[in-house]
Amino acid sequence: MNKKTIYLKDYLPPAWLIPETELRVTLAPEDTQVEAILHCKRNPHSKEPNAAIVLNGERLQLERLALNGRDLAAREYGYAEGLLSIPVQADECTIASTVRINPAANLELDGLYRSAGNYCTQCEAEGFRKITFFPDRPDVMSVFTTTVIGEKTACPVLLANGNLREQGELAGGLHFATWHDPFPKPCYLFALVAGNLVALEDSFTTKSGRRVALAIYVEPRNAGKCGHAMAALKTAMRWDEERFGREYDLDNFKILAVDDFNMGAMENKGLNVFNSKYVLALPETATDTDFDSIGGVIAHEYFHNWTGNRVTCRDWFQLSLKEGLTVFRDQEFSSDIASRPVKRIRDVNLIRSIQFREDAGPMAHPVRPASFVEINNFYTATVYDKGAELIRMMHTLLGEAGFRRGMDLYFERHDGQAVTCDDFVAALADANHHDFTQFKRWYSQAGTPELFVTSRYDAAGGRLLLRLRQSCPATPDMAEKKPFVIPLALGLLARDGRELSFSHAGRKNPAFLTITQKEQDFVLDEVAEEPVLSLLRNFSAPVKLHFDQSDEELSLRLGYDRDPWGRWDAGQHLALKALMQGIEQFRQGHQNITLPDTLKHGMAALLDDERADAAFRAVSLVLPTENWIGQQMAPLDPEAVFWVRQRLRALLGQELRPAFLRHYEALGKAAHRPYVYTTAEAGRRALRNMCLDYLLCCAPEAPADADMLALGERQYREADNMTDGLAALSAVVNADRERGDALLQDFLAKWQTDPLVMDKWLSLQAACPLPGTLARVRALLRHPVFDLKNPNKVRALVASFCALNQRQFHARDGAGYEFLKAMVAKIDRFNPQIATRMAAPFTQWRRYDADRQQGMRAQLEELLQAEDISDDLKELLEKSLW
Ligand code: ARG
Ligand code: ZN
Repeated sequence: MNKKTIYLKDYLPPAWLIPETELRVTLAPEDTQVEAILHCKRNPHSKEPNAAIVLNGERLQLERLALNGRDLAAREYGYAEGLLSIPVQADECTIASTVRINPAANLELDGLYRSAGNYCTQCEAEGFRKITFFPDRPDVMSVFTTTVIGEKTACPVLLANGNLREQGELAGGLHFATWHDPFPKPCYLFALVAGNLVALEDSFTTKSGRRVALAIYVEPRNAGKCGHAMAALKTAMRWDEERFGREYDLDNFKILAVDDFNMGAMENKGLNVFNSKYVLALPETATDTDFDSIGGVIAHEYFHNWTGNRVTCRDWFQLSLKEGLTVFRDQEFSSDIASRPVKRIRDVNLIRSIQFREDAGPMAHPVRPASFVEINNFYTATVYDKGAELIRMMHTLLGEAGFRRGMDLYFERHDGQAVTCDDFVAALADANHHDFTQFKRWYSQAGTPELFVTSRYDAAGGRLLLRLRQSCPATPDMAEKKPFVIPLALGLLARDGRELSFSHAGRKNPAFLTITQKEQDFVLDEVAEEPVLSLLRNFSAPVKLHFDQSDEELSLRLGYDRDPWGRWDAGQHLALKALMQGIEQFRQGHQNITLPDTLKHGMAALLDDERADAAFRAVSLVLPTENWIGQQMAPLDPEAVFWVRQRLRALLGQELRPAFLRHYEALGKAAHRPYVYTTAEAGRRALRNMCLDYLLCCAPEAPADADMLALGERQYREADNMTDGLAALSAVVNADRERGDALLQDFLAKWQTDPLVMDKWLSLQAACPLPGTLARVRALLRHPVFDLKNPNKVRALVASFCALNQRQFHARDGAGYEFLKAMVAKIDRFNPQIATRMAAPFTQWRRYDADRQQGMRAQLEELLQAEDISDDLKELLEKSLW
């Protein structure tokens, strides 16, 4: 199409409103008819008093257009660049249109499409315009009544948003169902589903005593795999009542699971559509991690019913209004039902590995972007996860009770409206008489702030002097940044590990200091001895902290910090120091990197620390991610990062072998049989599998230990669940090609008919750092279980290779780059959203050495020169090359 950049500052309220919409959709795979009646009213707040009605529409074959019941001739309206414009004199009117669309040809999976022969829709952000002519913007909210018509045999189930009003038979083997959604909503929340589906049904009684019918729809072959998702849904519904006072509002809540889906899931009002990966789970086919993320995504989409649907976004620049807030809510849910520290550690890992990198690259944008070309490119870690960190900081600044007051006021003020991030912050501020004016810079300034801290202890005065300085690197959109408000949570440790008390500005042991200036000093009083500082506790702000601590101080915190996140962070820091030293040596040609004693003893103590739960020990034993290590280097040398990290892991595995073996055996004996998914059991499995991973880890180029391989093979054979089976398979595959291949064959034979399990099979092979992986990946493109049209398969193979396997993707010969370019070019022809996501590794090209820069840059340029690339991809390429 050649979209233009659009700017937040150009926002205008809609000239016309559509209070009511009636749809009648007659389904046929290649020729679906959509009849729409829009009841239109001029917007009294519009700034354009005589404006024509402008409707979005793309890929629609227009058959009939009528104004107030009278058919319009072609000269009575205009159509250009996806906009249909109808001049109207009156202040109210009715527009009727009939269009035809082709769901079977829809491979971009946006709008109405087919998955496994069933029909479903994806309308966020701008998919509804591919279904019918409509003002496709979130500030136009309408009450929808939808009649779905389909063949009785092919489509026994016909669904849309809201409550069922009527259903019945029609001539010619057809039947219909009419659904009415009483809540006005933007069209991006519209959904329609039809096909041969079976449902798991249940019910939920809300706190005020209303009974809600719950149903999860799947293809018949997946019946019986929805129990966990249903249980999670009910837990989430209760939690939102208890923690936020939010009750569900329709008579039913329906979920559909499909195999073909661009993203994780979609919160369409009362009819969520999910990637089957986030619904289907049995112990034999899904890992603990899958069970976990299903709970998180089910909750996320459910929570959108209030944060997103009842109160929605005014425009797409405000995407984080609903996404940042809803991620915060799902994080809190997961923290309340399982381990809060482990959840926090996982989320911080994501922020540091993915979001910080995005924030430092060419696609950097503020949480509330000021401009974009293709909105689909802004469903990012920044909008979602940094957005959630912003909410979390406000929660820290206000406290739980104050935050809740602010949320209550937000819903009270804005229920039924389409609002902005400013409106949200204003509600929090007004409910608490708190001034967030400076804080709001977090919404408009991109880039990761850096916080430099030095400290000095004044023994005579019992005082600790803290000197803080903040800065934020320039981003493509903005050179100079003004200081941020940074809540810095902190604690002090005595040299024996006790928590030391202190006071600040007359307050005893404040949980955090609030930094507001570029340079700022703080004095902590009543500090009895020279302390070890624990800073940024619980990752109280999404910043990069620069604070020098010795190995001894880090070891002390790793052992004793009262903040579990702080323990983990100290361990990461300790490991990072060892890794950076090793990388320095490696780059000077030394290969006999050794394991520092402090790191070894710290890890050993953590492994043995029975006071800490198993899940926490498991995550804390993982060395910093390659992504995070890479961000500490310029230029980034992915081979050095991989090599040294792997070498240190192997050394830990060897030198702590007796301890790892001891825990491995003990944790195995403690297993609950048969498998149950509980927080405790999942933690136990995680720690045991972490031990196995270390035991099988061998230094790069070194052969695996035969006994340890046998241990892995035994676990693979004996496992009664996917968590243990896959962990063993992965450990063996990464350690030894031949033995790995034998297990992969066995796994394939067992699971080839289960697409979600095959995703794991593909992903594991693509992520294998051993030589020869690219050839394997290329061969797998032709394997019968692979399907280029299916986003999960593409992610499993292409993203696992290009984003997770940095060693092989960045191989010196440039073959990895060539591979990614070819895949992106191919996929862009039918699914721009997925193609553009796959291209993300290229955006980082400037971080590498000259050869690799040149290699990636050439691919970017070649992609850009190709004819007819999508707007999505073009935006990414142009911003990357700029
Ligand atoms: N609103 C959905 C969620 O976060 C994601 C939809 C993304 N869609 C897209 N086309 N990018 O729950
Ligand atoms: Zn969301």
